[in-house]
Amino acid sequence: MNRNISLYEAIGGENTVREIVESFYPKVQADPLIGHLFPADIEPVMEKQYQFLTQFFGGPSLYSDQYGHPMMRGRHLPFPITPQRAEAWLNCMRRALEEIALEPELREIVLQRLSGPAHHFVNTSEEET
Ligand code: HEM
Repeated sequence: MNRNISLYEAIGGENTVREIVESFYPKVQADPLIGHLFPADIEPVMEKQYQFLTQFFGGPSLYSDQYGHPMMRGRHLPFPITPQRAEAWLNCMRRALEEIALEPELREIVLQRLSGPAHHFVNTSEEET
């Protein structure tokens, strides 16, 4: 990856982030470990995730412009996130990146960047669910 450009630009900007989100959420909804945590009306969640990932990957600050400081761990506290659920989320993301045929090197970088937050959002142990 060219180190002078953002990950956002490297993966293909707006179109790619849209593709990721559109491929990711059907997998999330079908996932036995995390699907039930999400509302049936998934469109608003998809739009927020599009805005968030855009800025998370180094693109324009779409999410913060609209919602203020992301405080993502706090926003996830209402949902019991176990280590297993963090892995399930990342696995859905891996399959989405494969489906949209993002090149393997970039796929690994994206997954690595998301893996920190995913594990950081864990707020419940498996025994409690
Ligand atoms: C670790 C596993 C994760 C689980 C189980 C999970 C689950 C959820 C759930 C249930 C919602 C709320 C949907 C709603 O009712 O509105 C949500 C919202 C959201 N999640 Fe996650 N999430 C996870 C990880 C992540 C990660 C790693 C990111 C990005 C780095 C992320 C970004 C978001 C965003 C941007 C929203 C919308 C926040 C808002 O309402 O403004 N999530 N997530």
